[in-house]
Amino acid sequence: MVARDPHRFVNELDETTLESLIVRLEARAQDAVFTKLFDKYVAELALSSSARILEVGCGTGAMLRLLARRGDFTGEAFGVDQCHSFIDAASKLSHIESVGDRLSFQVGDAHCLDFPDASFDVVIAHTLISHVTEPALVLSEMARVVRPNGTVVVFDGDYASLTYAFADHSFGHQMDTALASATFNNPRIMRDLPRLLPKIGLKLAGAWGDAVVEIGNGSYFKSFAETYVPYVKKAGLLPAQRVEVWLNEQYQAMKNGTFFAACNYYTYFARPV
Ligand SMILES: C[S@@+](CC[C@H](N)C(=O)[O-])C[C@H]1O[C@@H](n2cnc3c(N)ncnc32)[C@H](O)[C@@H]1O
Repeated sequence: MVARDPHRFVNELDETTLESLIVRLEARAQDAVFTKLFDKYVAELALSSSARILEVGCGTGAMLRLLARRGDFTGEAFGVDQCHSFIDAASKLSHIESVGDRLSFQVGDAHCLDFPDASFDVVIAHTLISHVTEPALVLSEMARVVRPNGTVVVFDGDYASLTYAFADHSFGHQMDTALASATFNNPRIMRDLPRLLPKIGLKLAGAWGDAVVEIGNGSYFKSFAETYVPYVKKAGLLPAQRVEVWLNEQYQAMKNGTFFAACNYYTYFARPV
């Protein structure tokens, strides 16, 4: 068996597995460890009251719903995702949260967006680019649909920096690598963006990094491990029994207050040349 990024191949998953990914996306969108990174780039965008926004690979629309619930965003936002179940959840949840009138969701492929050129002020890929089949093609589609002087935002983790503490350093390192390759088609893509953007007609307009770190207890990385450890096992990347020991040690560390996990995340703003 080889690793198959579950978000890249989401349309091959069964209903139970899809439900667990929906739970993970929704939990992550409520975790302050993570949402502060979204709030940081939204503040930097200084959106106009009539801004038209597109999120590519919107999943359950968690980020756009968060944006629409903020008092300072009064524009219109669109979300596209390749997964029908995620798009259904996005539409349902946006109506439950009374923000459905400003958000529209549709099924589509990020490699071939069904929107005219220059139709958005801001186009966002929030933890999408690490999963897609062809990152350069997705970025050029984002560049095509953003208006001149609009902003393309790419936010994602650098999963070569993902790490959990484990007493056996050698197995800990193998587990970090296995988690990254089981979960992400492009675990190192965020390092490539400064080289990639100019090749597809985008000019770097700003970038910064944030370390997401949990020490003592874990919420963000607990949910991450619980969701993606099964994919390490399923791909047969490491012996299942040792993976189970690793996971139990992480739970124990959370109980004892000795937990440690970290990953670097990067935000890029780019504009059409
Ligand atoms: C980690 S999730 C992020 C979802 C959302 N942006 C969020 O932060 O909650 C990655 C999403 O990318 C979507 N995706 C992956 N490849 C795609 C493609 N080629 N076209 C559209 N969506 C894609 C998956 O279906 C999944 O919903």
